[in-house]
Parts: sequence; structure tokens; C-alpha cells
Amino acid sequence: MSRYVLPLSVLGTVVGGAVLLKDFVAGGACPSKATIPGKTVIVTGANTGIGKQTALELAKRGGNIILACRDMEKCEAAAKEIRGETLNHRVNARHLDLASLKSIREFAAKVAEEEEHVHILINNAAVMRCPHWTTEDGFEMQLGVNYLGHFLLTNLLLDKLKASAPSRIINVSSLAHVAGHIDFEDLNWEKRKYDTKAAYCQSKLAVVLSTKELSRRLQGTGVTVNALHPGVARTELGRHTGMHSSAFSSFTLGPIFWLLVKSPQLAAQPSVYLAVAKELEGVSGKYFDVLKEKAPAPEAEDEEVAKRLWAESARLVGLEMSHGSTERGQPLPE
Ligand SMILES: NC(=O)c1ccc[n+]([C@@H]2O[C@H](COP(=O)([O-])OP(=O)(O)OC[C@H]3O[C@@H](n4cnc5c(N)ncnc54)[C@H](OP(=O)(O)O)[C@@H]3O)[C@@H](O)[C@H]2O)c1
Repeated sequence: MSRYVLPLSVLGTVVGGAVLLKDFVAGGACPSKATIPGKTVIVTGANTGIGKQTALELAKRGGNIILACRDMEKCEAAAKEIRGETLNHRVNARHLDLASLKSIREFAAKVAEEEEHVHILINNAAVMRCPHWTTEDGFEMQLGVNYLGHFLLTNLLLDKLKASAPSRIINVSSLAHVAGHIDFEDLNWEKRKYDTKAAYCQSKLAVVLSTKELSRRLQGTGVTVNALHPGVARTELGRHTGMHSSAFSSFTLGPIFWLLVKSPQLAAQPSVYLAVAKELEGVSGKYFDVLKEKAPAPEAEDEEVAKRLWAESARLVGLEMSHGSTERGQPLPE
């Protein structure tokens, strides 16, 4: 018996060490144990991946959770699963297609009408490296869903968020923003040859820039807004790349992937942390690399670029409508 004790303890140490190393490399659990009883939370793209795990964790912490998804069948199934697992019955599914300005406006109008408060908005949904698709309103799909859709949604929910203060907006970006560049001459890839990777990076850079600009605009309102990179996780995000299904990535890069790629549950921790942590009260306009605040890419810090992008985004999604322009920002006919 005793001859097994040493090998087993060595094995235990090796496995424990590897798990610690993985947590160190990939980022660990949310360090805050704060609960959010009665707080209303909206999570976009919550039927799968990081968004679903974020909704689950926040439901465990007592929130009233609204899962905002484009596919109602998947959304209802996720809501049911979360209710079953957490025994929190205030978890509901709502339709939101971020590739449609009409759908975003309908969703926001319903929330304004039916919800007394919105305390936490988590802009999580995204599409990555899809073919050259466009949204219902003609925007390049990655810019349209990942950035412009959330830009409009956030702006439409601002009154509710302000009335519910202290409240928080969390924008899920990506480390990929460092490779991004905002091309004001061709934001929607109508003139250049489409580069699906660069389009994803541009959309995620836009998310960080608008986080910074919105934080400046929200000073003194009690509403904070921060952006984050969740780490690399095993989710459906790579569905358009085929990477996750390649034998090369599964076998050759297996050990590296094991170390660097985490579960959606672990990748949800940064969103949960920014949503609940008491120590982050009043913290706004920051970028978090997993659980640590970090400087984003230099272009993301450029205030002029942020202001120009804000104005252009408002024009594109029709936020100037009350000032005499149509949905796509064209001047109204006389
Ligand atoms: N996974 C990673 O390694 C990683 C790394 C860095 C950043 N991120 C970021 O983390 C966030 C979550 O990604 P994930 O990894 O969990 O990806 P995922 O598993 O692919 O989940 C993405 C979610 O977004 C939803 N979505 C896509 N298009 C939408 C639309 N038009 N309207 C509404 N919802 C839409 C999807 O809905 P359907 O299921 O209906 O398509 C799904 O619920 C994203 O912002 C992503 O960029 C992830």
C-alpha cells in the first residue's frame, strides 16, 4: 500500500500544480463573493458560451436575469436550464437580434415599458470571422452586431440605467482589439477587399473606444461602463473559422490549448466580477484583461478617434432622429 503513496502524492502535486498554472495563465474565479438580490441584469447572447455562464452565475447571486437572444427556442431552453440549476425563477428569455435596428428598438421599448429598473447591462453577444455578410440595415455583420447593435441598445437603455443608478454597463471586447484599426473611410467594408479577421478586430476596437467615450459622457450619473477581454474559451465563437474542429488544433496543439483555453464558466468570471464587485464601485472607462485592469491598445486611448466614432455611429444607427434625420442618418425630406 505504502509504495503507492509517494507516486500518488507526486501525481497529486503535478495535477494541482498544472491546474494552478492554468488558472494563473488563463485567469481564475471571480474574487468577489458579492450577491445582487433584486438587481435586474440584461445579458446579450446568453443562450450559449460565455453569456450563458455569466447569466447562470448572476442568477446564482440572486439577480433578475433577462437573457437577450436572437433565437427564442435556444433562449427559452437556456433560461429553463438556468432556472432549474439555480432555483431562481426570475430568469427570463427575450428576443433581441443585434443584426436588426428594428429588433433592438423593439427590445429596448419593451424593457422600458415592463422593467422598473436595469442595474446591469452586459453587452456580450458577438459573431467572429463570418463571411462577408451584412445586417438587416446594411452594416458589415461583425461591426453591426458586435459594436453598432450594442451601441444603439446601450443608448436606448441609458435613461433606465441612469434611473436605476448605481448601475453598470459591461462591454465584452477582446484582446483582438489590439490588431484593430478604425477605417473611417470604409467602416462597413464597402470599398476594400473584405478581411474577416480585420473586421472582427475593428469591431472589438470600436467596443473599447466607445466604452471610453461613454464613460466620459456618463460622469456624475452613477452609471459606470467598462470593457474586458474574457480570455480564450472553448465556445461556439469559432464556428465560422473551423479551427475548433481541425485535427491539427485538437492533437498537435492539444496541450497548449489545454493550458490557454478555458471553460466558458471560467471565461464568464471577468464579466461577473465587473458586474458585482464592490471594490469596482465608481470605476469607469477602464479595460480589463481577464480580471486585471490594463492599458488597452494605443488607438483605443485616442480621444479624437473615440469622439469621431461616436458621432459616426450615432448617425449610422439613427440616434439623431429627433434632430431631423432618418434611421440611417440621412437628412429628412422637407
Ligand atoms: N471565446 C473566446 O475565446 C473569446 C475570446 C475573446 C473575446 N470573446 C468574446 O466573448 C463574447 C462571448 O463569446 P462566446 O465565446 O461565448 O461566443 P459564442 O459561444 O459564439 O456566443 C455568442 C453569442 O452571441 C450571440 N449572437 C450572435 N449574433 C447575434 C445577433 N445578431 N443577435 C443576438 N445575439 C447574437 C449568439 O447567438 P446564437 O447562438 O443564436 O448564434 C451567442 O449567444 C463575445 O463578445 C466574444 O467576442 C470570446
